[in-house]
Amino acid sequence: MKKKKIKKNLIILGILILILLGVVISLILIHQPKEEPVSLTEEQKLIEQGIQIVNKENFTSEANTLLEKGYSADEINQIYEYMSDKNIAKILTNNKVDLSKFYQISNFDFDKIDRYLAYQTSQGIEMKQAVTEVNLNLDTDFYTNIETIEDPSSITVLVNKFHALPADYVPEDLVSIPSFPNLQIKDDAVDDFENLLAAAKLDNVIIIPYSTYRSYDYQEGLYNKYLQTDSQEEVDTYSARPGHSEHQTGLALDVRSSSHWSNLTDSDYEWMLNNSYKYGFIIRYPKGNSRITGYQEEPWHLRYIGIEHATKVHELGITFDEYYDIYLTEH
Ligand code: DAL
Ligand code: ZN
Repeated sequence: MKKKKIKKNLIILGILILILLGVVISLILIHQPKEEPVSLTEEQKLIEQGIQIVNKENFTSEANTLLEKGYSADEINQIYEYMSDKNIAKILTNNKVDLSKFYQISNFDFDKIDRYLAYQTSQGIEMKQAVTEVNLNLDTDFYTNIETIEDPSSITVLVNKFHALPADYVPEDLVSIPSFPNLQIKDDAVDDFENLLAAAKLDNVIIIPYSTYRSYDYQEGLYNKYLQTDSQEEVDTYSARPGHSEHQTGLALDVRSSSHWSNLTDSDYEWMLNNSYKYGFIIRYPKGNSRITGYQEEPWHLRYIGIEHATKVHELGITFDEYYDIYLTEH
């Protein structure tokens, strides 16, 4: 009888323990924190719209600004893939414009879009070319909007009808050409010029420089002398106005063949076209480029820009003006 009672009590105890366990487990489960509904981060929201995240400070806020302006995800992706930081800053602070023609043009400048479009239409040229030419101000008249050159002693300085040297600029490092001691050029160019002369000679090409460094005043006298016989319109096709001549930099040389008083023979010019870049010189005013250079062809006018750049200009087959805008200017 006693044993039976103990057994019964044990069963009751067991049931109680089980109930208690059940209650405890239920309580634990009830008090588990509920899963919050997932809230997307700003980046995830952009990704869901098809925007590729760029590792750049403030990217999410910039992308949202562009979305608000009406740019599509695809347009935003292209802007960040191709546009310079300078242009992105301008895009962010202006109304939406159609950029589709410009994404892959490295020298594009947002501020000039209207000029690019007008010039491309009026000239009937590719947009890439229109961008370069407008950057060079070729949609405006020569000798207007003239900028004074800030780094006149750089060997890659651009001197043209829109970029003027200060009237008092004289290179500090003018030296005589050893084999033509009466003529001076900038020190940077002298060894390479002697090397060019020697290489030409080995190919039986005799090159004679005859006009190298020219001061502002000298150029002024020259230009005024030409004006006595030709109209200004004519003179401007072959002579730079004072301050606008590369000769004032000490980096330009007019060279001739031994059989000619001021020009190269066809075969000597051919040699120059094929070889001068190896010594850092380019033909600055090549045939068929007067729209860009502002001058008729000058086979005799060499310009030193260093071997690396001269090689690129030669390979690309473009004028120095174009090269300067595309490769030497920050856009
Ligand atoms: N003949 C070139 C353009 C000059 O005068 O510099
Ligand atoms: Zn010249």
